[in-house]
Amino acid sequence: MPASPADRLDVTFASLKDKREDVLAVLVGDGPSYAPLIAELDQSSDGTLTRAVEAASFKGKKKSSIEVLAPAGLKEKRIVLIGMGKPAEAEENDWVELGGSTFAKITARKCKSASLVVEADKESEFDATEVAVAVALGAYLRNYKFDKYKTKKDKDKDNGEAESDGLKKLVVHCAEPKKAEKAFARQSGVADGVLLARDLVNEPANELGPIEFAERAQALDKLGVEVEVLEPKDIKKLKMGALMCVAQGSVRPARVVVMQWNGGKKNDAPIAFVGKGVVFDTGGISMKPASGMEDMKGDMGGAACVVGLMHALAARKAKVNAVGIIGCVENMPSGEATRPGDIVASMSGQTIEVLNTDAEGRLVLADIMWYIQDRFKPQMMVDLATLTGAIMVALGKSFAGLFCNNDDLADGILAASKSTGEKTWRMPLDKSYQKMIDSKNADVKNLGGRWGGACTAAAFLERFVKEKETPWAHIDLAGTAMDAPRSDINPSWGSGWGVRLLDRLVADRYEK
Ligand code: BES
Ligand code: ZN
Ligand code: ZN
Repeated sequence: MPASPADRLDVTFASLKDKREDVLAVLVGDGPSYAPLIAELDQSSDGTLTRAVEAASFKGKKKSSIEVLAPAGLKEKRIVLIGMGKPAEAEENDWVELGGSTFAKITARKCKSASLVVEADKESEFDATEVAVAVALGAYLRNYKFDKYKTKKDKDKDNGEAESDGLKKLVVHCAEPKKAEKAFARQSGVADGVLLARDLVNEPANELGPIEFAERAQALDKLGVEVEVLEPKDIKKLKMGALMCVAQGSVRPARVVVMQWNGGKKNDAPIAFVGKGVVFDTGGISMKPASGMEDMKGDMGGAACVVGLMHALAARKAKVNAVGIIGCVENMPSGEATRPGDIVASMSGQTIEVLNTDAEGRLVLADIMWYIQDRFKPQMMVDLATLTGAIMVALGKSFAGLFCNNDDLADGILAASKSTGEKTWRMPLDKSYQKMIDSKNADVKNLGGRWGGACTAAAFLERFVKEKETPWAHIDLAGTAMDAPRSDINPSWGSGWGVRLLDRLVADRYEK
């Protein structure tokens, strides 16, 4: 079962005059500079707040905070002053992260509900509605736990209370609550896509095989997404020999899921998203070492991102035609598994020599990329895959690798990256990498040699871009989809990386 909506943070918006919860967090600008409401609270408490600020040398610096307990003259039991630094220097994602750290500060105190005041003052001017929404989004994203398999919930070391006693309800007070509420409804749809992607990546492979993954994707039909699930007999009919050769070693049959969101004009060509959905990657006959293999339950991070994105687009009713496709398979060794040296025919007609059965993601993508182009003639295509360890050698775990045959699309992705903080770094596509994957015995081989592993993997995929003019991007998220550095807005092993990024790309570039 997916985490239930009951686990989501209940975020509402209220005016600055509305009744406040017992716990009150307020944003304070560098200086410190106080918004009118704080000044008012300070007066009512006979200067308690300013005295506390002075005593703690609190300057309103970013990421700093102080707490004032039970201030005389005020109804609030706890006031948390949250430093926001210099608002003029803050970019959009800084506010989202501030929301995440604010959530963490409040929930650590076991407060079930809290008010947060977002108000601009003369010294620190900012768009308070935009900031209120961004901060609320950050809190919403931070509120995530994957503990469904723990029969005893984590105990807090301090007082023995269950961890689930944290913040459940956040009331954000701002000048234009109605406007903020509307903007947040859209943002929370996207955030739900992120949380869904996290759930899928965190889920162990015994619970989430290809069939179960397809079922999770199928559930998007409730949001108006048209979902088709292809089974092995359909997949074989389509001659997806590359995808099937990965699946054949497992007793769990493959699924290919096609998801269509038609929010645009009838005749507009769709944009396409393609995800690697290897529910577990043992490496097959070219087996991986035991140490760390458990992480390969997350080898469907690309597919999780596509499903999360389709959720996001449908939830916020994006005015775009988008199609998502995921190839869900399990890469296992067995008597029926593909051997190194085997040659298979892909749907495109190109033959592939499988030199290493652990380079399986590109085989899955080759066929589903071809199929989606053949069927939908998309105006652009982005594929997402936890494709290579080599991308982590190159970039570490805070950047995903971006390979792109079109500068305009690459710029769009890099710009969206900057807005959402999901960092991408452009990597090369080049003829020299193509040479490295020419095969002696077939059209192409799935191994490029020792150097530039992420680049030869991308070069392999490039051969399956049907029309060379189609703008196409390949994002290798092996480093970022799972076990990436935790952040103020992501406390989870499965990060849900890419959902906000691609949603933003769609909103900025493809919606009319
Ligand atoms: N799923 C892996 C890549 C991966 C590794 C993702 C670590 C996340 C964390 C992929 O299928 C793989 O095994 N790639 C091989 C390719 C090699 C055999 C050419 C790799 O990167 O070692
Ligand atoms: Zn592999
Ligand atoms: Zn893999």
